[in-house]
Amino acid sequence: MASSVVPVISSVSHPAAASPPTRLRIADLLHATDHFADGVLEGRFDHLLPYGGFPADSRWYTRLHTDDELDVWLISWAAGHATDLHDHCGSLGALTVLSGSLHEYRWDGGHLRRRRLDAGDQAGFPLGWVHDVTAAPAASLETLSVHAYSPPLAAMSYYEVTPRQTLRRIRTELTDQPEGA
Ligand SMILES: [Fe+2]
Repeated sequence: MASSVVPVISSVSHPAAASPPTRLRIADLLHATDHFADGVLEGRFDHLLPYGGFPADSRWYTRLHTDDELDVWLISWAAGHATDLHDHCGSLGALTVLSGSLHEYRWDGGHLRRRRLDAGDQAGFPLGWVHDVTAAPAASLETLSVHAYSPPLAAMSYYEVTPRQTLRRIRTELTDQPEGA
């Protein structure tokens, strides 16, 4: 009697674009931003901060850490400065707000949804996350946030919302800066 034959089922491979090229998860990035935010508050990065304080009329940033799989930035946000609508291409992202408040406008597939992120709040950005970030108007404190990306941020695509309420990609740029324009 012939032994039963187990059919060979070819494995189904998932598109590479579905998973980011990093072993880190959003939770790891959230933890990293928390850790480095603590470091900023404890003064461990005082040597990187601008002499005379953060500029009031322009965005300022510095890289707190970089390695092959992660980069971490501190950003000081100027009132009224927006990043323009963008994604982080092949990088996951996360942030922790240190002081002040941010507004994030995220594209949900049909609309831009606003949320406010206050000091201590965190947010994670999976692949395909399209958003614009700005200091919340009338934030009483300077707005500082720590951002992490994995793999390190190398490119961003910018978008516009069309009159038909769809998203149109208008350009992709290589970058060595965090969080957009
Ligand atoms: Fe962003």
